[in-house]
Parts: sequence; C-alpha cells; structure tokens
Amino acid sequence: MNILVTGGAGFIGSNFINHILSERDDVFIFNLDKLTYAGNLENLKPVEGKKNYQFIRGDITNNELVDYIFKKYSIKYVINFAAESHVDRSILGSEIFYRTNVIGTNVLLEASRRYNIEKFLQVSTDEVYGSLGSTGLFTETTPITTNSPYSSSKAAADLMVQAFHHTYGLPTVITRCSNNYGPLQFPEKLIPLMIINTLNGKRLPIYGDGLNVRDWIYVIDHNKAVELVFEKGRAGEVYNIGASREMKNIEIVKLILNKLGKTEDMIEYVKDRPGHDRRYAIDSTKIQTELGWKPTFEFEQAMDNTIEWYLANKDWWQRIISGEYQNYYEVQYGNR
Ligand code: NAD
Ligand code: DAU
Repeated sequence: MNILVTGGAGFIGSNFINHILSERDDVFIFNLDKLTYAGNLENLKPVEGKKNYQFIRGDITNNELVDYIFKKYSIKYVINFAAESHVDRSILGSEIFYRTNVIGTNVLLEASRRYNIEKFLQVSTDEVYGSLGSTGLFTETTPITTNSPYSSSKAAADLMVQAFHHTYGLPTVITRCSNNYGPLQFPEKLIPLMIINTLNGKRLPIYGDGLNVRDWIYVIDHNKAVELVFEKGRAGEVYNIGASREMKNIEIVKLILNKLGKTEDMIEYVKDRPGHDRRYAIDSTKIQTELGWKPTFEFEQAMDNTIEWYLANKDWWQRIISGEYQNYYEVQYGNR
C-alpha cells in the first residue's frame, strides 16, 4: 500500500509517520515535505533507514514534481498534512497560506484524479467552524465561518476537497481536529512556547484576557483517529476529532508554571490577537459511534509526558529557537 503523506516532517505528520511505521509493515510511506521553518527531519529519526519509508523534499504546489511522484511510486493513497499552520503567522502575512493550503491541495487533488487514487484524506481543523459562545459544540454540520487567513485557507481547501468528491467522485475524507499538544510541536504554539519560555525565564505572553478556550487533544489520539478515518471513513464524509478537554489559556499556562515549579509573576497579559476566536469545542460523536474511535490519553498525564519530553529534548528546541525563530519572536512579540 503506497501512501503519499505530505507535511510529514512537521509536528503532527512526523508523529503520524513514527506511530504508523512502529506498528505496521504493510504500508510504504512516501513523505513529501518542503522543509519550511516548521519541517524538521530530526523528528523522523525513529523511521530513518526503514525499508518502507522514503523522504522526498519538495513543495506540494509543484505540479511536475507531484505528478512525477504519483507516477513513479504508483501512489494510490494520499494523506495531506502539509500546511502553513500558525494563525499568528497568517495574520503577519497571508499569501503563503493560500499558496500552500489552497493551491497545494488543488495540485494534490488534480494528481489524485489523474491517477485514480483510492483514498484522499484531508487533515483539516475545527477552526473552519469559526468561534463558539460560552455554550455549544462544533458538529460536522456547523456552518463554515472563518475568521483568520489561516482558517479561511483551510476552509477553502475543505470545500475544494468536497467539490472533487461531488463532481469527479474522488474518494475523499476530511478530518477536523481540535488543538493538538505533545512531543515535537514547534515552539510558536501555545503549549511548547510557554514551556520553553518558563524554562528560559522569559515572560509568558497571554493574548487578551486569557479566557479564550481551546479543546485539547494529545497528538497520538489525533493520529489514531486519522488512521481509522483513512481506513474506514466513508467517502465524501467529514469527521470531527476532539477529546472533550476544554481549557482556558490562562489555566494551561498556570498548569505549566505549576508543573515546572515557577510562579505566576512570569505571566504577562499582552495585546490580543486580532480576530481572536473565543472558544472552540468539538462534538466527536460521529467518529465515536460510526468508527468506534475514542481518545485514550488522559489530559494531566499526557501534559506531564509533554512537559517531560521538552525537558528531555532541550537540544531539539534550542536548535530551533537559536535560528530564524528569533526574528519571528521579535516581530510577533516585540511590540506587544
Ligand atoms: P506544522 O506547521 O508543524 O507542520 C507543517 C509541515 O508541512 C512542515 O513539515 C512543513 O515543512 C510542511 N509544509 C509546509 N508547506 C509545505 C509545502 N508547500 N509543501 C510541502 N510541505 C510543506 O503543522 P502541524 O501542527 O503538524 O499541522 C499539520 C496539519 O494538521 C495541518 O494541515 C494543520 O492545518 C492541521 N491541524 C493542526 C492542528 C494543531 O493543533 N497543530 C489541529 C488540527 C489540524
Ligand atoms: O484548533 C486547531 C488549531 O489549533 C490548528 O488548526 C492550528 O494549526 C493550531 O495552530 C491551533 O491554532 P490556535 O490558534 O488555537 O493555537 P495557538 O497555539 O496559536 O494558540 C492557542 C491559544 O493560545 C489561542 O487562544 C491564542 C493563545 N496564545 C497563543 C500564543 C502563541 C496566547 O495567548 N499567547 C501566545 O503566545
């Protein structure tokens, strides 16, 4: 089974490949990744040298390259993780988000059509549903309402995937997951950023009043759901993925401080994110009842694992934050 996994050097994609190849030898994974600032081959050490794994450096927007890969490696399955994934960066500059997330998905869909693939899984996000008030949950029928350049680019891709199913009968499935955490997450995202800043004695910048809510899921639970939808999801369908663990941002930050034995005076409330979605919360009844998935990691335990991973892997994140990251950090947080 030849599977093209895109974006497999990023946070979720690398956890996915490491997980799948530790359990299965009936699949061959071709990992197509551009290695942007977020892509890191160090993440894939566990699968280096495996005979059913091959890395290809390249851009999903490159038509010729994508066509060549489908033909040469007889690709019949696609799992599209590749994306520009950070909301704050999309606010600083949106063009690359539409290029990769929209045009890139189009290139993959067109190739999938030409080569009659058997399944195309689009890894999407709950952000396509916009923002909730203090009650209610996102279901698969919640209308698409997007508030950031990032979420609008992901929604555009989702609509395109559905159009290719309806028009051409392409066997597509879409997963929409809530906020992930776990090992190998790039330290621009809330949890690793706060862990690393705490360890480095830097201020912890909380946007706005800190009461925005996110629904957290451990990355392995997300990836097990992706695997299940890939195998058993019905063509044309959307499946929400979430672990029902709503937390206010300030609660997450205090929990990290507490685990690391530091005090709350490190917290600094800073200017809010423009267009900041207030609350996300996922109803995952469909994947649970139809496919039998449920989350297996308990939040406190998985957060402990995550913090321990960052403590044990300082080299990994020190290499990251000593590079281009410093420029980003200055632009994003310098004037807040
Ligand atoms: P990430 O930013 O950590 O990784 C993205 C990967 O895609 C990187 O390896 C990068 O090099 C690669 N990439 C970017 N542009 C590319 C291009 N043009 N061609 C080929 N490769 C390219 O992102 P992540 O957090 O691992 O997210 C993966 C996917 O999951 C994304 O589609 C994202 O929208 C979705 N998602 C993320 C979360 C989350 O909480 N992180 C939640 C739900 C859905
Ligand atoms: O919901 C799924 C989405 O979750 C994914 O589609 C995105 O790829 C992923 O980046 C994530 O988006 P968020 O914007 O929710 O994640 P982020 O970690 O950037 O922020 C989480 C919350 O924390 C959000 O309310 C903003 C806040 N925040 C974030 C940072 C980086 C802060 O208060 N301070 C910060 O420095």
